[in-house]
Amino acid sequence: MSGTALQARGLVKRFGDLTAVNGLDLEVRTGTCLALLGPNGAGKTTTIEMLEGLTRPDQGTIKVLGLTWAGQAQEIRERIGVQLQETRLTEKITAKETLRLFKSFYAQSRSIEEALGIVKLEDKANDFVETLSGGQQQRLTLACALISKPSLLFLDEPTTGLDPQARRNVWDIVESFKSEGGTVLLTTHYMEEAERLSEEVVIVDEGRVIAEGSPQGVIGRLEAESIVELHPRDGGAQRLEDAQLLGLPGVRDVRRAAASITLSVTDTQASVGALLGLLGEQGIALETLQTHAPTLEDVFMDLTGRHLRDA
Ligand SMILES: Nc1ncnc2c1ncn2[C@@H]1O[C@H](COP(=O)(O)OP(=O)(O)O)[C@@H](O)[C@H]1O
Ligand SMILES: [Mg+2]
Repeated sequence: MSGTALQARGLVKRFGDLTAVNGLDLEVRTGTCLALLGPNGAGKTTTIEMLEGLTRPDQGTIKVLGLTWAGQAQEIRERIGVQLQETRLTEKITAKETLRLFKSFYAQSRSIEEALGIVKLEDKANDFVETLSGGQQQRLTLACALISKPSLLFLDEPTTGLDPQARRNVWDIVESFKSEGGTVLLTTHYMEEAERLSEEVVIVDEGRVIAEGSPQGVIGRLEAESIVELHPRDGGAQRLEDAQLLGLPGVRDVRRAAASITLSVTDTQASVGALLGLLGEQGIALETLQTHAPTLEDVFMDLTGRHLRDA
């Protein structure tokens, strides 16, 4: 097991008739971050809660730092840090008192001052939790997860609902934890977060892995240089046939939404040039034309036909 901080094989979890997690495997190498990426309801929380020992799988095996929940639960608890999707902190105590409470659960831990320093809340030590902003409360729950000097950190949607600045603050904390050799498993439905923080992404949908690998490796499988999105005016999208679009140089794939068309292309310049020619011939005017480098969102779209967010 050397080099593997976390390993799960064949995880299954059912809630009545619903199979929330349906035969999921994953492996996180020591010192890296793995992002479990998927839309709401994909089974991310159920998976992470099984790994954290909070929910018992119906099938499958889990090894955390080479240990099992059945045999060595207390030892695992001492060595992992957990931030739940919706951690409700007690509002009528201060940041410092919150950390003192969490510290009391562990045999070994950092000082409260050090934990506050890591999440840059030193000047909030004596403030009541209820007076902290959403981003500050999220950093405080991270400090609680880090108080025991864990070597493995579980984060369930650590930045959902935060503004961009607060999100970057959380990313900085995770990056600094990693730079000291820590291992991270996080769940997110923000592809930017997965791309920024993780060496490995596992994209899940309906309790199954649908793609995995490095962010660039997963994106590379689209074999697209860019994604071209066009919004023709006045119902123009209907007048363009898939066969015509696929006949343009470099166009690999055509996807349609209400009034827009998305192309995966291997040669942006040739494809866009030819596309504009085709639109000109057919007298179709454009509302907008955008191109972007392919992202994990495009991979998800390609595999499921749906968006990661609001799916
Ligand atoms: N305790 C539970 N009882 C019944 N259904 C549940 C329970 N927990 C989760 N689910 C269902 O399992 C599926 C996966 O949920 P969850 O793991 O929370 O997904 P995610 O974290 O990816 O949004 C959803 O359909 C959800 O409604
Ligand atoms: Mg969740």
